Amino acid sequence: MCLGNRSIAIWLVFTMVFQNKQYYYWCFVAVVPLLISSHIGVVTSFVTETPTFAATRKVVALSPSLSPPPTTSTSSSLELSNYDSEYYTPTEQSPQSGTQSPITLTRFLSQYVKDHPELKDLENILLAVQMACKTIANLVNRAGLVYSIQHSTTDDISQGAVNEPDYKSDGRYYSMKRLDKLSTTVLKNALKFTGTVQMIVPEAKEIAEQPGQHQPGVLIAYDQDNIACLDPLDGSGNADASICSGTVFGVFEKAKTEEINEETLFEAVLQPGRNMRAAGYCLYSSATVLVFTLGASVYGFTLDPQIQEFVLTHDRLTIPARGNVYSCNEANSEGWGDSWKAYLKNLKLGQGETQQRYALRYVGSMVGDIHRTLLYGGVFAYPSSKLHKPQGNLQLLYKSAPLAFVMHHAGGKAMDESGDDLLNKRPERIHQKSPCFLGSSEDMDELKKYLTGLQN
Ligand code: F6P
Repeated sequence: MCLGNRSIAIWLVFTMVFQNKQYYYWCFVAVVPLLISSHIGVVTSFVTETPTFAATRKVVALSPSLSPPPTTSTSSSLELSNYDSEYYTPTEQSPQSGTQSPITLTRFLSQYVKDHPELKDLENILLAVQMACKTIANLVNRAGLVYSIQHSTTDDISQGAVNEPDYKSDGRYYSMKRLDKLSTTVLKNALKFTGTVQMIVPEAKEIAEQPGQHQPGVLIAYDQDNIACLDPLDGSGNADASICSGTVFGVFEKAKTEEINEETLFEAVLQPGRNMRAAGYCLYSSATVLVFTLGASVYGFTLDPQIQEFVLTHDRLTIPARGNVYSCNEANSEGWGDSWKAYLKNLKLGQGETQQRYALRYVGSMVGDIHRTLLYGGVFAYPSSKLHKPQGNLQLLYKSAPLAFVMHHAGGKAMDESGDDLLNKRPERIHQKSPCFLGSSEDMDELKKYLTGLQN
């Protein structure tokens, strides 16, 4: 009871006793219950609360799952601290973080080249690639925020794209070009900052295979000892739909030539995949994962967004010897060769060597499809299609060969359409495409029997 109420009561009693008037008696009878109820706090709260707030309290009380946890603080229930803190800061920890010393890529590489001093010259290139991949991951993740598909016609770049003859009205082509350009610049800069690496970008005249088709911004980088080919953003056309994409790279030893010009450099990079000293890819997906080999085991590092470092998550990665998934673009099936068709038919019917029916999984982003194949096993394929794609759709030098190199070192295999090892195939042109098949060793062995005519 507040001081004001108490004074009224004293005053009423006083006047009633000393003046003895009926009027004061009745006032006393009416006011005393009021004063008692205000003491237990019901009436005062009813009077002071606004109707809205009272209603809100009722809703919260009726839906316990929506109410914030009980708190001793008197602050507003809308304050962040009143909500379940796990919602904002999940407590899940990676097995690495418990040790306080995750193996970061930087740390891993410095130890690796200490153990293999002959690979020391690759360290800088790989560190530059990892730096670039972090930035590209950011660009890809923010693609939908920066330019929306529907409203992509107001800035300079998009206007440029709109004016191009093969711009697609859904904005896909535009975003693909923009991300290709940005990631090429990011990679170029990262490699340039090593202070030892230089770059050339093969000109469009090289790209005569399928005129009018979008052409990736492949990069040829070289230093004194190495020459590398890099595909900055494979599958960039998927970025608008938040589907995964990836960076692919392969590094060869560079022949010592007197003269360095475009011609000698192109010649130097046109080597069979088997000659690579290092190869790998970075997948931009629900996680950013960098997988590579320096010619021995395969290692996978996942970008930890909390510390912005690639952390070792797949130590000595190996592909299962068998899988139960095949991955290819079925839309090309009318033009496929008979041997591939026969092989697939048996997989679908469960009449292959395992007598198990295989499932189809196809992202349409090579890095994503290869990463899944590497982890779960199975077959990835881009065969020729005599109707539309006589050489498939994947460039040998900077897409299928580096991924075949990784596959090989993870215990898998890669072949061309004659069943020959893809790593033995020497590209004649930078952008040359080749049919390819990559996957688990036993699946590849089974497929080879079809491709070489031993089984049909
Ligand atoms: O080369 C770009 C690419 O998107 C690859 O990542 C992918 O494997 C392939 O093309 C998909 O081609 P298609 O759309 O013909 O299935």
